[in-house]
Amino acid sequence: MAKLIYKKTGVEKEIPDGEKIKKAAEEIGVLFGCEDGLCGTCMIDILQGENNLSEITQAEKDLERDLKHRLACQCRIKNGKVEIDF
Ligand code: FES
Repeated sequence: MAKLIYKKTGVEKEIPDGEKIKKAAEEIGVLFGCEDGLCGTCMIDILQGENNLSEITQAEKDLERDLKHRLACQCRIKNGKVEIDF
């Protein structure tokens, strides 16, 4: 199990290794729009553990995202902990 952690509240959500972070991020309070990497609504900052996430997608590159600034609808968590803010 991997963990998604929201820095502001300390809330931690467990996610099976390899799964998308969308559901956990939504439960933490991240807002979603298109869910397809187009609108940018789900932008999150990665404070720690950026290497525990999947590679940046083309959709994220198109919105000028990088390892520290991702789209929650596009990320899978590989393992370990990822701390986010938004
Ligand atoms: S919800 Fe639109 S880019 Fe993620």
